[in-house]
Formats: sequence, C-alpha cells, structure tokens
Amino acid sequence: MRELKDVVLVGKHVGLRVDLNVPIEDGAVMNDERLSATLPTILEILKSTKNLTIISHLGRPKEGEYSEELSLKPIVHWFEKRLNLEIPLVKSLDELPNGISFLENIRMFPGESRNDDLLSELLSKKFDIYIMDAFATAHREASSTYGAILKSKDSVPGLLFSREINALSNILDDSKKLLSVVGGSKVSTKLEVITNLLSKSDKVLVGGGIANTFLKAKGFDIGTSLVEDDMISSAKKMLGTGKIILPERVCISKSTQSDDIEFVPIESVPEDKMILDIELNIKELSKKDYDAILWNGPLGIFEIKNFEKGTRDLVKYLTQSGSRVVAGGGETIFAISKYSDKKHFHYISTAGGAFLEFISGKKLPSVAALELK
Ligand code: 3PG
Repeated sequence: MRELKDVVLVGKHVGLRVDLNVPIEDGAVMNDERLSATLPTILEILKSTKNLTIISHLGRPKEGEYSEELSLKPIVHWFEKRLNLEIPLVKSLDELPNGISFLENIRMFPGESRNDDLLSELLSKKFDIYIMDAFATAHREASSTYGAILKSKDSVPGLLFSREINALSNILDDSKKLLSVVGGSKVSTKLEVITNLLSKSDKVLVGGGIANTFLKAKGFDIGTSLVEDDMISSAKKMLGTGKIILPERVCISKSTQSDDIEFVPIESVPEDKMILDIELNIKELSKKDYDAILWNGPLGIFEIKNFEKGTRDLVKYLTQSGSRVVAGGGETIFAISKYSDKKHFHYISTAGGAFLEFISGKKLPSVAALELK
C-alpha cells in the first residue's frame, strides 16, 4: 500500500474520509480522542492544499433522512476551535465550496451502507484524490470506505490509517515471543480472534466471561457463571494447542450486586456462586519474557469496583512489563484511561470492530481497495 507521502497534493481538491464517530451528549463531544487522532493527516494535507472536504459518519442514522441529533455540527465546532478556522458543513455533494469544508454525516446519504455504485461514483468524481484515514470504519464495505476508493482517480491511506496498519501488522507478524490477552464476555464473538491469535502467539491468556467457557471445557466446576455451552467443543480444540493460559484464581460472588466477594483457587468455585473477575498470575507472566503483548477485552466486570482487580492489575503489569504493548477495542481503551495513561503503551488503536477484524486475520475492505490503487 502506498502512503500519503507518495502523492502530490498541491493544487488538488482532496476528499478525506475519517472516523469521527464519537459520543455526543447535549450537543457536546464527550471523548475527542478519535478527533485528535485525525489532526496530523488534516494538518499535513493543509500544508499542500486548502481545498479539502472532510467526510465521516456519526452513529447509525436512517439513510436518506436528516437527523439533527446525528449531525456533525458539534464535531465541526471542535475542529473550528482546534484549527482556528471557520468551516462550512454542507449537506450535499453539489454544494462543496472551495477551501476546507465538512460533508454532513455520510450515513444520511442514500446508499452509503450498501456501497451504492452511484454514491461511490459521486464521491470519487468530486475529488482529485480520495484519502482514506478512517481505520476504525475500514471493516465496512460502504461507499465512502470502499466504493469511492476503488472508483477514485487516485487514493491513498492517511497518516493514522498507515500507523494503525503498521502497528497491528508488526505486533502480529514481527514479534519474537507474543503474549495475547483476550477478555470480554463471549467466546462466540471472539472465536476468530482467538483462533488467529493462537497461530501468531506464544501464549493466549483468556479472561472475562470467555475464560468460563474454557474452564468448563477443561472440566472445572464454574458454579452459576456465565458460560456458552455451544462453544465448549471449540474451546476444547483451542485448549488442545497447549497455548491457552487459564486463570488459576478467580473472584466469586452470588451476584454482580453483592459485596460478599472472595478470591478462591479455580478448583473451589461453589455451585451457587459465579466467577466475576480473575486474579492474574503476574509472577508467572513476568518470568516468560514476552517481547510483545497484544490486548483486547477486560478480564472481569471492571465497571463494578468489586470486580476490577484483574483488569486493573493487567493494565499495571502492561505498563511495567517492558514489552511492546498494543491494545485496542472500546472497553479496553476505556480501561486504559481508567487505570493508567495511554502514553505508557506502545500503540493504542482508535478502532473497535475494525481492530477485532484485523487481529482475527480478515482482510478489511478498505485495505483491499487501497491495495489496488
Ligand atoms: C466504530 O465506532 O467502531 C466505527 O465508527 C464503526 O461504526 P459502526 O459499527 O456503526 O459501523
């Protein structure tokens, strides 16, 4: 794949697809990390041309209908302040002014989510070059993330897109001894992720509800814990690789609401209690000398103080491990900001779904399209 530095932008009208899908409450941006992450690409483009149209989706509006709630207005204000510029927000591709502008939420345009040919064509024709920087939406085969790239005169990834691909490819393919840590509630949603990580990693540590299914598959009694019985046979196969690290001690309680909690060895879970968090065997992990660690998903119900220890200790271990640590996913990023600072991590992806699909080994549609340009 080429990079932004490989193209000349002087004198060109640039279309830039970014992912500005951030939480908005009462017209205010609640978390601006994704917005900040697009600034380097925008500033780099503005060095060569002032003719720039920024395109993004926000939420999931009904196509063809304007929704004030999902308008990009608050986001445009954020950029106006940061760039100290007035930036028009236009609702139609026929109204694009000269200079810098934002196109209203692309998912309000008919055909976007269906990768409609006409919309892809319209998007690509409006610009001399189409720059794709929305890594967090690279798993959607939509007009603005796929069709427009293919149909454009020229298209390259932006700086953020290239950074994401490089960081994730490097950890998966160039680590000498990789530890993957996968948490979250369900094996079924992470089956492809765990399968791919088993082929790339020295070990895969599982936590969260996912661990329960593996523990049951191994023959442990897990009381009333959340479990996916239809995943037991897949879990057994994965255990057969000898690479899965299961929790040895777990935090149990009668319910998530109870303050009566206890850490016990995995052999001692009573039949009327459930596993809600795990205890990390930090000593054991530290001995192994992993040069790289990839993390996705919390190890317990960390939103509740009683069940945050596993996730909190993991964040601490990761920041002190000396290994190259790459993390991604919505809850994972939230846990990092809760217990540490992202500056202690080698790379934190801005993506949720796209991150998971990438680490599960799937070719993302936007990547496939950019590789053809
Ligand atoms: C995300 O937040 O993961 C991306 O913006 C994609 O959003 P979507 O799941 O609505 O396609």
